[in-house]
Amino acid sequence: MVDRFVHESNSPMIEMLRVHRFFGKTRAVNDISFEVYRGQVFGFIGPNGAGKTTSMRILSTLELPSYGDAVVDGFSVINDPDLVRRRLGFMPDGFSMYPNMNCVEYLDFFARAYGLIGKDRIAALRRTLSFTGLDKIASKPITGLSKGMRQRLCLGRAMIHSPAVLILDEPANGLDPRARIELRQMIQQLAVDGTTILVSSHILTELAEMCDQVGIVERGRLLATGSVADIQRTMQGALRVQLTAMDREEQLQEWLSQRQGVSHIQRSGNTMSFELQGGNLEQADLLKGIVNADFSIMEFAAHRETLEDVFMKITTGAVQ
Ligand SMILES: Nc1ncnc2c1ncn2[C@@H]1O[C@H](COP(=O)(O)OP(=O)(O)O)[C@@H](O)[C@H]1O
Ligand SMILES: [Mg+2]
Repeated sequence: MVDRFVHESNSPMIEMLRVHRFFGKTRAVNDISFEVYRGQVFGFIGPNGAGKTTSMRILSTLELPSYGDAVVDGFSVINDPDLVRRRLGFMPDGFSMYPNMNCVEYLDFFARAYGLIGKDRIAALRRTLSFTGLDKIASKPITGLSKGMRQRLCLGRAMIHSPAVLILDEPANGLDPRARIELRQMIQQLAVDGTTILVSSHILTELAEMCDQVGIVERGRLLATGSVADIQRTMQGALRVQLTAMDREEQLQEWLSQRQGVSHIQRSGNTMSFELQGGNLEQADLLKGIVNADFSIMEFAAHRETLEDVFMKITTGAVQ
């Protein structure tokens, strides 16, 4: 991963401080806390309805918390929403366009809305068009743009005033693989330049490579936070093993259930699968044990859980 100038001693650029947001009986955001430091990319990951958009709207001052506070670059969304807005760019997941505009007119509209004037406005437009690669199609009408180009335009709109913090709500949604890779490169470049980024997705693998930290949310709660590697390590201590016995499958199942590190055994006929704590050594040890106990095995295969398995395990409440 690209070097970032992350200083742990810095105060955080984004702080969610026990944020709650209730809509009637729905606990859209239910006591969420985390912080993101300058130049870091934080991935906010969870299934639909988890509370990602609501959290991001609160940080962007579009929604107030029911309890708790959110702080951007030291300013509270409750007490100083105007100061928060100046420091922050928000890219919503939906897309409202002004169909009779071209790209540069669209960006110029937002540059003016942010109060940029004169040379600063021109410089902001140039910088944004060039960064997003929209300079080549600056005078194309928005209506004809591909999904990828529209996302670039939305990103351009969110960054036109050079915000210190960018909040991107499901930006990769609906993009083809190439557009997704390009988006990732843009996000990483922004982070290298010192922008602090909060990005959401309902697909863990979509964000895994670009995030320094991820937070997994479900039903308004933050279930896990850490680097992708940390989360993988804590959540996927287990290897998934599948084996097929020649005979005596019931005895083998019994034998396995007594064995340390083996859990979640499922058997279908003479095939069984289970979780095994540990790594290669434990796997080799187990196989030796099975053979020494005189069981005849026809097939033995082990695989690490993928990130998606880990995510499914967390969000189905298997780990809390
Ligand atoms: N304005 C609203 N009024 C009522 N319920 C809402 C509102 N906004 C969001 N919700 C509810 O809050 C929950 C979280 O929604 P949301 O933050 O959009 O989740 P996500 O972005 O993770 O899909 C959902 O159950 C949703 O229906
Ligand atoms: Mg959403």
